[in-house]
Amino acid sequence: MSFDLGARLAARRAEHLYRQRPLLQSPQGPQVVVDGQPLLAFCNNDYLGLANHPEIIAAWQAGAERWGVGGGASHLVIGHSTPHHELEEALAELTGRPRALLFSNGYMANLGAVTALVGQGDTVLEDRLNHASLLDAGLLSGARFSRYLHNDADSLNSRLDKAVGDTLVVTDGVFSMDGDIADLPALAKAAKARGAWLMVDDAHGFGPLGANGGGIVEHFGLGLDDVPVLIGTLGKAFGTSGAFVAGSEELIETLIQFARPYIYTTSQPPALACATLKSLELLRSEHWRREHLVRLIKQFRSGAEQLGLTLMDSFTPIQPILIGDADRALRLSQLLRERGLMVTAIRPPTVPAGSARLRVTLSAAHSEAQVQLLLNALEQCYPLLGPKDAVESQHA
Ligand SMILES: Cc1ncc(COP(=O)(O)O)c(C=O)c1O
Repeated sequence: MSFDLGARLAARRAEHLYRQRPLLQSPQGPQVVVDGQPLLAFCNNDYLGLANHPEIIAAWQAGAERWGVGGGASHLVIGHSTPHHELEEALAELTGRPRALLFSNGYMANLGAVTALVGQGDTVLEDRLNHASLLDAGLLSGARFSRYLHNDADSLNSRLDKAVGDTLVVTDGVFSMDGDIADLPALAKAAKARGAWLMVDDAHGFGPLGANGGGIVEHFGLGLDDVPVLIGTLGKAFGTSGAFVAGSEELIETLIQFARPYIYTTSQPPALACATLKSLELLRSEHWRREHLVRLIKQFRSGAEQLGLTLMDSFTPIQPILIGDADRALRLSQLLRERGLMVTAIRPPTVPAGSARLRVTLSAAHSEAQVQLLLNALEQCYPLLGPKDAVESQHA
């Protein structure tokens, strides 16, 4: 017996699902160089345009001068430094919660929070379109795991009826591949009525959503009681890297004691925390970024609708164009690329079979003229795909 990796890879290719890593040869931003080609990109998660901001870079450099570059140890040994601590305090203030805990990235924050809170004899209920890290966390926890219909409180309720032990309801805040937002008031009501806890991963909501960038919870005006476990990631609108869990004093102390992806890893570089403190300041104070983004989203949606494209139910910077067939989605992405634009095709298994899409993301760093260039290119390229496939027609 041997591993037949060649056959697995060949099968992946045959299904048009083979993935390749584009090589970015410039900083993140609307104008990039990828694989040697200058491109206008609509596919990063740098929603507020902070990933290459000079003040954040300066904060990083000053942080490295003052604190060095390496975390040096895990938080519980001697890796928890003053910038980490200050960032946690600032994130607690942003979220209006007693405490926040810094993780190395969102994947680990999700694994850590879910596995620390539920285990054998408990229940974890997740939206079926949740991010892979949340689904993996649920499976890894050893709790009874069940997925409810997308954003459907009735479907959640029927599962809550059968739940045993401590029960955690887990949802994305903004769904990463669809751009729609969770119906948090309904989910929070359902969870509270059964004594379950609601955990929200608002990786894509912090920054763009809420009057001060406080994300979906701020958008809906919900509190600690409604959403006891709130996750944010720092690699998207914050423009840096890392993640946090915000909640009660007891929750954070529980994670420090029991969340293995928190305990058994080196802390992030302290200079990175210095950079994120600066980006947090810009995220909260520079409202023009959110306002400009809202205008771009409206411009894109109305232009795309006029072209007859099938959009999803989203008012966030994630504006996917639903295509259906993975091969057609790839072709459209390729046609755009030939015209100097980069928009990634998202295919199964990242999205359900038959729902491949172009995941357009907008950033405050884009200009209205750049969004118009995208619309012009779509007007040229989309008809070259031929008639809509079954999925597109059904949703149109
Ligand atoms: C909803 C969601 N949660 C978590 C993550 C993981 O965060 P990180 O990239 O910081 O690991 C992502 C994407 O990266 C995401 O889209």
